Amino acid sequence: MSPIVLFFILSHIFGNRIESIQNKFLESNASIYSFLKENLSIIPLIKVFNLEKWSKNRFSKQMGVYYGISINYTKTSSLNTSLSSLILGVPIVLLITFGGYKVLDGSLSLGTFTAFMSYTSIFFSPISQLSRIWTTYKSSLPAFDRIKEVMDMEPEKNVGRNITITSGEIIFENVWFSYDNRPILKGVNATFKKGLNYIVGDNGSGKSTMLKLLCLLYPVEKGSIKIDGQNIVEVKREELIKNISMIFSDPYLFDGSIYENIKIGTLNAKKEDIIHAANWLIYMNLLKAHQINIIQK
Ligand SMILES: Nc1ncnc2c1ncn2[C@@H]1O[C@H](COP(=O)(O)OP(=O)(O)OP(=O)(O)O)[C@@H](O)[C@H]1O
Ligand SMILES: [Mg+2]
Repeated sequence: MSPIVLFFILSHIFGNRIESIQNKFLESNASIYSFLKENLSIIPLIKVFNLEKWSKNRFSKQMGVYYGISINYTKTSSLNTSLSSLILGVPIVLLITFGGYKVLDGSLSLGTFTAFMSYTSIFFSPISQLSRIWTTYKSSLPAFDRIKEVMDMEPEKNVGRNITITSGEIIFENVWFSYDNRPILKGVNATFKKGLNYIVGDNGSGKSTMLKLLCLLYPVEKGSIKIDGQNIVEVKREELIKNISMIFSDPYLFDGSIYENIKIGTLNAKKEDIIHAANWLIYMNLLKAHQINIIQK
């Protein structure tokens, strides 16, 4: 029975080690994927700024970490398998030696010895399987934890009342907001009346964030945003979004023609509407270029 105690201690130690290595392995794997995704999408930028070497070095560094962790994982799990086999193998060798000697001196019958040997292997076999299952379980725990993080997220609720737009007045009242505990908006007050309004501020001062808050992409920490007196958090998100259009400064074009891309805005739009929108977009772009000039001056 003594190898079993050793066996469980070993499984416990190696199980924990494998779990922590697997955790690092998944993190490294995820960072390599996000690095690739980011870098493949900015290849022209990397070339224009002559950053090939810099990008290659960063990738090599990440691959080095990944390689190190993979080797560590393989070494640890191989060591675990070898030590488990050793712990179960040594008693068998001892039994054969000790039992064989007893059979030779006649104090044990060959039948009893053979039966004992086969009982021993029948007994050890599920224990060795148990150890394998335990380490597999431990190595899959980090992956399970990552999935659980996503599964535990609260689904977006689409509850609340419908919104009624009358004059389209938007009021930010003492709005506070932070990204990862970094305060961006600190008690912002602003009123936007119907018509053309501007938000002017330094880079990174929180202009786009204000618009994202207006679309309920993030919840306001403190204060409120009201459209015609209706607090946006009390309104159905779907209803709110129907009344807002937004063009980000880094527009994304879906794979398809410009015609199809414009159509995404209103899926049942007629051809004339799309052509009208295209003309309007050209006009807005000219206007934007003009505004940039004004702001720079
Ligand atoms: N998703 C995010 N997670 C963490 N920080 C963010 C996130 N989005 C923006 N930030 C940070 O919040 C600050 C405000 O960003 P925001 O995009 O609102 O600024 P902005 O005024 O629109 O800037 P710009 O003039 O460059 O468009 C910046 O410092 C930015 O780095
Ligand atoms: Mg912005």
